[in-house]
Amino acid sequence: MKEEEAKKVVREGYAKVAQTGCSCYTTGSSCCGGPSLTEDISRQIGYSEEEMSAVPEGANLGLGCGNPVALASLSEGETVVDLGSGPGFDSFLSAGRVGDSGHVIGVDMTPEMIDKARENAAKGGYSNVEFRLGEIEHLPVADGTADAIISNCVINLVPDKKAVFDDAFRILKPGGRLMVSDMVLLGELPDAVRNSVAAYVGCLSGAVKKEEYLEAVSSAGFERVEVVEEKQFPVKLMASDPTGRAVAESMDIPAEDIDRVGRSVASISVFAVKP
Ligand SMILES: C[S@@+](CC[C@H](N)C(=O)[O-])C[C@H]1O[C@@H](n2cnc3c(N)ncnc32)[C@H](O)[C@@H]1O
Repeated sequence: MKEEEAKKVVREGYAKVAQTGCSCYTTGSSCCGGPSLTEDISRQIGYSEEEMSAVPEGANLGLGCGNPVALASLSEGETVVDLGSGPGFDSFLSAGRVGDSGHVIGVDMTPEMIDKARENAAKGGYSNVEFRLGEIEHLPVADGTADAIISNCVINLVPDKKAVFDDAFRILKPGGRLMVSDMVLLGELPDAVRNSVAAYVGCLSGAVKKEEYLEAVSSAGFERVEVVEEKQFPVKLMASDPTGRAVAESMDIPAEDIDRVGRSVASISVFAVKP
């Protein structure tokens, strides 16, 4: 897929997710998961019951691949930027940690997601969170603004990953830190998955090898680059659970390829610091 085409399908896919509230990344029309799948996914990737119930309904659509907020050690008064904030789950959790003297900026390129996140912010009465429409390769944020950048399952969707880390570096204060959770490849994906548009939107086929991902972080100028958590893709859920199977089908993953996908894909959380 060419760069512009990839962004178009991602934007269209997530516009549909925002409008339907379905965490299933399918390009079809049915909602294959529902609240119990969303919660199962969230538990598996590291969210507590308390975190899930702390945000407005509709802010957690089970779209993440880790819990960067839990790992980012946010403090009262800090400014946090959430790259690809979606309906706002991690932005709202960050808002609770930085308090009224802090500030959270969520950035997303899908207008429907920004509308949904703003609606959720109004529902929750948040005064320290704002959502800005924009691309994370060209962040609508001034130089040297952020104490911390978080992101959850987004950068795999961006064709030019290096541009994302370069711009993240630009908006951080010196000493500012990056904590991103994302999908990376540990091996080759089956051809059917690699060529699937739905699997691209579903955060699989846009992923790059783990080494390439970490190299993009380092080459932007970051130091102390470290994988603080690494988890296997929840393939068991996909193979054994009917809703999980529906998710696999929605991403065009043939049954015989599910195991191989599980071995080829991992979710990692990466920490780094701007010197
Ligand atoms: C898998 S969802 C994750 C949403 C959110 N981080 C969460 O965990 O709920 C990916 C989000 O990234 C956004 N996105 C993808 N590529 C983007 C880009 N280049 N710039 C800004 N947002 C992007 C999509 O619109 C979508 O809302």
